[in-house]
Amino acid sequence: MDGFVKRFLLGPAQALWLLAAGHPVLAEEMQVPQSAEKYPQTLLAPVGTQAQEIFDAMAWDLVAITILFIVFSLVTAFILIRFKARRGDDSKLPQSHGDFRAEIAIWLGLIVGVVILLFHPLHAEGVFSAAPKNADAIDIEVIGHQWWWEFKYPNQKIVTANELHIPTGRIVRLKTTSMDVIHSFGAPRLGGKNDALPGRWTKFWMEVDEPGSYYGQCWELCGASHARMLFRVIAHPQKDYEAWVKARQNPVTKPASELAKQGEQVFGRVCAACHTVDGTPYQGQVGPNLTAVGKRTTIGGGVLKNTPKNLTTWISNPASVKPGSLMPNNIEKGLITQEDVPALVEYLSGLK
Ligand code: CUA
Repeated sequence: MDGFVKRFLLGPAQALWLLAAGHPVLAEEMQVPQSAEKYPQTLLAPVGTQAQEIFDAMAWDLVAITILFIVFSLVTAFILIRFKARRGDDSKLPQSHGDFRAEIAIWLGLIVGVVILLFHPLHAEGVFSAAPKNADAIDIEVIGHQWWWEFKYPNQKIVTANELHIPTGRIVRLKTTSMDVIHSFGAPRLGGKNDALPGRWTKFWMEVDEPGSYYGQCWELCGASHARMLFRVIAHPQKDYEAWVKARQNPVTKPASELAKQGEQVFGRVCAACHTVDGTPYQGQVGPNLTAVGKRTTIGGGVLKNTPKNLTTWISNPASVKPGSLMPNNIEKGLITQEDVPALVEYLSGLK
């Protein structure tokens, strides 16, 4: 009950209040949604240029609508009271028709109302569509797959999955496409959504102010595991980002133990048909690139924390984690045995 009150009554009330106040700084002071883990996806704690624009537009419209509501309520109340039929008074009010001044006033009122409501959203729209042409912007390709996200950094020659690493305070130019059906890419605290359409690139951009890990997910129904098509945007201070790029360009690929060596053999025999590990002969192009997968915080399209136990579950029976998963149950197919799994887990965890 307590949870219900908090979630469905206090939360929205607080959100409305914040919106009415129109001031994101208050969110911080009131200790409302700042932690990504606690409040995974909220528009009320913007972190970055685009998200701020959306928040401002929303706050603007909420204030405008509230003022309109109050004005209309007062006018309606006035009319109801002023022109109420009194007992014993059966005289008729003078009927009028086609009052030119009233027509003009109504139309002007409507036009002004629409302009006021559209003012901020149109401004936000302008900010979104014009990708800044900064020389130090970073270009990243976002590719939707059933049911995971692929991120390609063409200039850095990096391909990764489900965890998008970016620096803070820099323009990140993204272009999105899909390899199968329509997906939609969006991390609410960082900005709007962008459709991922097969056979077409759609462009957008983001700029994030604060380092952190921000949730995002697919926003377009795309099949059985649509709700399990998550991603995280990990924003680093510039230096840490550069360190990540460097580490990622020089990944650890050699197995460090006997068990890991066995795992590598199984990987080469079965998994490499679909997965790539940079700097090795394993260059499958169907599934996510698994270079440095041991460093990722999540697996299975962002659904499970990256732990040996979860990795075991995921490899042993992918569909138990993600219904419809395109990664087959290789044990059922007889391609690997349950005994191969610990070796695979050891090998994958060692890729850093
Ligand atoms: Cu991809 Cu929903």
